[in-house]
Formats: sequence, C-alpha cells, structure tokens
Amino acid sequence: MSHLIAPSVLSADFNNLQRDAEMINNSQADWFHVDVMDGVFVPNISFGFPVIKALNKVATKPLDVHLMIVRPELYVNQFRDVGAAVLTVHHEASPHLHRTIQAIKSAEMKAGVALNPHTPVSVLEEVIADIDLVTLMSVNPGFGGQKFIENTFKKIADLVVLKNKYNQSLEIEIDGGVTLDNYEKLVQTGATVLVAGSTVFNSSNPTDTIKALKSDVA
Ligand code: DX5
Ligand code: ZN
Repeated sequence: MSHLIAPSVLSADFNNLQRDAEMINNSQADWFHVDVMDGVFVPNISFGFPVIKALNKVATKPLDVHLMIVRPELYVNQFRDVGAAVLTVHHEASPHLHRTIQAIKSAEMKAGVALNPHTPVSVLEEVIADIDLVTLMSVNPGFGGQKFIENTFKKIADLVVLKNKYNQSLEIEIDGGVTLDNYEKLVQTGATVLVAGSTVFNSSNPTDTIKALKSDVA
C-alpha cells in the first residue's frame, strides 16, 4: 500500500501561493495540508476562510484542513463551504468530540482527530470506528520547521493496534518534522499520510522532494 503525501501550505510562499499550489497540483502529492491557527489553541495565527477559498480555486487535489483552534465545532459548515475535504479537529480542543465528528460527517467531509504529543492514542478508543483519520502531532503544534519528536514511533505502533481492532481503513497521518531521513521508518511503522512543510518548500526542488517522499517503502 502506498502512502499519501500532503505538503503543508503553511511553508509555501504566500506572495506566490498560486504558483506553489500549481506545483503541488503537478507533483506526486496527494493532498494539500492546510493549517488553521487561532492564536488561542496554539501560540501562532496563520490564515482563515478567504485564503482557503482562494487556494481551493487553484487546487486540483483534496484540501486536508487541520484546525488548531478552540471551539472548532462552530465552523464546520464554513470550512466545508470553502472547500475542505478532510476536516481535522484537536482532541484537546473538543470537550464534545463525538458530536463534532458527527457534524463533520453530516457535512460530507472526512473526519479527522489530531492529538498533541502528550496525548495518548487510548483517548480515541470510543470514537475511532467513527473517524477517517488520526493526525499524530510529531511536534508541538503552532509552527513549521520544528524537530521531530521520536516518541511518535511508539504512538504510531499503539495506534496501529487500535486500527487493527476497530477501523482497518483508518488513515494515520504524521504532522511535523517529517524528512527524507525519517519518512521510510514512519511508513514502516504504520503511517499512511505524511505531512511535509519545510522539507518540501525549503528544498531546492520541491517537486523532486515530493517525489522522493512518495517513493515506495519496502
Ligand atoms: C504545525 C503544523 C504542521 C506544519 C508542519 O503546527 O500542523 O502541519 O506545517 O511543518 P514541518 O513539516 O515544517 O514540520
Ligand atoms: Zn498540520
């Protein structure tokens, strides 16, 4: 099974967003990873609806929208309306996670749940059969270009146990610090979607870097 690559638009050149989106369209990437930050849940602010709507006009691949915001349940339909195909909310920001998941599915998007590095995957046991994707944060959310947290490998292995038990079509997404040095081991451990921001956009040839990240893993 080949894994998916989701370049993170957070690391794109916002003066040339259309050019960078077309690069992703013409590459072997599978999804656009779109990071929304509110300055409350995370100590940074990124972008919101107008930018995602503009991106969606150019993008020919699904938008994988990662909400690093408090009260994500208030905005489910608005993210659908600007083009989200996958909508991921943080467990840590969702006291009524079950209800939010149902709202995302009712809005006909794939539903994802993201976990911060300190949150064990066991908190998902009661909802894992209902969701399409789990995003394991392999850095503390808020910024691109951070160092990968090695404990993520243990969390992938723990999540694979839950996946095998409850939801064999679950996508396991890894977000933060993915590089050409660790992508193979991530896939071998059970990752099925790799987000890559700085590794792609800080490279001299982003298209080739996406191709390299997409290479088959034995
Ligand atoms: C971090 C974001 C990531 C970020 C990844 O809060 O959720 O998606 O863009 O960037 P890199 O790949 O540079 O760690
Ligand atoms: Zn992200």
